[in-house]
Amino acid sequence: MKNYLFICFVFFITLYNTTPFVGAQCDGQPSKYPIYNEAATFVNQTQNGKLYIIGPPDNQVNIIELYGTPYEMGYAQGVLLKNEIHDIFGNFFPYITTMLNNLITKYADYLPKFLIDALEKGGIKLALDITYELTKKYTPQSFYDEMKGISDGSGIDYNTILQIHMFPELIKAACSMVGAYDTATANNGLLQLRALDFGADATNPMRLHPLVTVYHPNAGSGHSFTTLTWAGFLGTLTGYSQHMAICEKYWYGYNGTSSREGIPWHFLLREILQYDESIDEALNRIYNSERTCSIFVGLGSNETNTFKAVEYSHEYVRVFDDQTPFPAAPQPAAHPNIKDVVYIDKFVQPSNHQCLGALLQKSVGSIDVQTLIDVSSQLQTGDLHIGIFDFQNNQMYVSVASQQGPYPPPSNFTLIPAYDRQFLQIDLNQFLNNNNNNSN
Ligand SMILES: *[C@@H]1O[C@H](CO)[C@@H](O)[C@H](O)[C@H]1NC(C)=O
Ligand SMILES: *[C@@H]1O[C@H](CO)[C@@H](O)[C@H](O)[C@H]1NC(C)=O
Ligand SMILES: *[C@@H]1O[C@H](CO)[C@@H](O)[C@H](O)[C@H]1NC(C)=O
Ligand SMILES: *[C@@H]1O[C@H](CO)[C@@H](O)[C@H](O)[C@H]1NC(C)=O
Repeated sequence: MKNYLFICFVFFITLYNTTPFVGAQCDGQPSKYPIYNEAATFVNQTQNGKLYIIGPPDNQVNIIELYGTPYEMGYAQGVLLKNEIHDIFGNFFPYITTMLNNLITKYADYLPKFLIDALEKGGIKLALDITYELTKKYTPQSFYDEMKGISDGSGIDYNTILQIHMFPELIKAACSMVGAYDTATANNGLLQLRALDFGADATNPMRLHPLVTVYHPNAGSGHSFTTLTWAGFLGTLTGYSQHMAICEKYWYGYNGTSSREGIPWHFLLREILQYDESIDEALNRIYNSERTCSIFVGLGSNETNTFKAVEYSHEYVRVFDDQTPFPAAPQPAAHPNIKDVVYIDKFVQPSNHQCLGALLQKSVGSIDVQTLIDVSSQLQTGDLHIGIFDFQNNQMYVSVASQQGPYPPPSNFTLIPAYDRQFLQIDLNQFLNNNNNNSN
């Protein structure tokens, strides 16, 4: 009896000391950093592009503003970020080749047999070339024009750029997303969290040069929008346009057939940001596209001040709001419906993990940017990057995994995941409304 009491006592103290907020449900702690809120500084410019940098010396992120036609925007990025693009693209194939066996063994149920065969016989480049052939009929020419611009501006071979842009079609990443709005948030506006879990791997060259891109397409080609990406990479996994924001997560539960013939999903998400102004417009685009992989897509709209999660797949599309049992009935106990909050945690769905639902339930009514920052560090989600969007104030908050340090990393190098680093605040009023390219 004495022993029993003693054990309970120790357990209680430990629980109290390490997780003062939500009992034993979360693995991490609230963020230990204040938000970095100094303005971005101008670095350089060329025709159709301006380069800025933001963040303290050990945590800097480039911001690039691009103007003009797709080719011109690509070219300007290629010129201004030539060294960064070489760092990533020059190291990308050695990096993903080490993933090849993993792709073949672990993805045997996910990739169609002909792609597994291609990986075995011809390696990753053959699988990427096949993906290009299957997607080109469905891909707007503007994407190829922009890649050609990046190639001409940076001197990287066009084919390499094309192959790397096919890579997201071959893999699946765990991620989390939250959309909170109206009665759920402190300012009653829409807040959106997107945390990309790709594996905190110091050998991933993408971590070296995270990039915030601000596109100002020519009149008639949509509106300005911003993406959180990597130098030279023009697909969109995380982005915002003042009208809408998007997030994405791999969907394991999909029971239908998938296809590799259609528009790459990260191009489709970018089209949503560039052209759509409401969830309905985005849903129409999704319904009417030839879709490939099965993913969850998060769509937030400032116009309606709402957020919806979408099961996106080759065969069908299903839409979830804050009242829909998610991901299906019966809903896991750890995923209660919360008024004006839509959320998916980083685990395979349906997830019965306690952390995210409990944190959101506790803060509902007063959710603010700091809540979502703390959510990411407590859930330990977003190892490669995290974007938080505040529509009311037109602000973006970005955190990235350690970008500094030698590459290839020495064996004693420890990568700090984005969810354990300082968030940088980017004032999008400064960037998104800046439709004049003064550098011309
Ligand atoms: C500015 O960009 C040009 C390319 O247009 C490059 O040659 C130059 O080195 C850059 N300057 C700085 C300070 O980065
Ligand atoms: C979002 O909508 C609110 C309310 O209508 C408005 O005050 C705010 O400026 C909008 N945000 C953006 C980025 O347009
Ligand atoms: C697949 O899942 C959907 C949605 O839950 C369901 O409507 C459909 O009947 C399922 N199909 C099969 C073949 O299990
Ligand atoms: C890692 O090892 C290198 C040389 O082996 C040393 O110079 C460096 O200080 C070490 N870094 C850390 C973080 O221990």
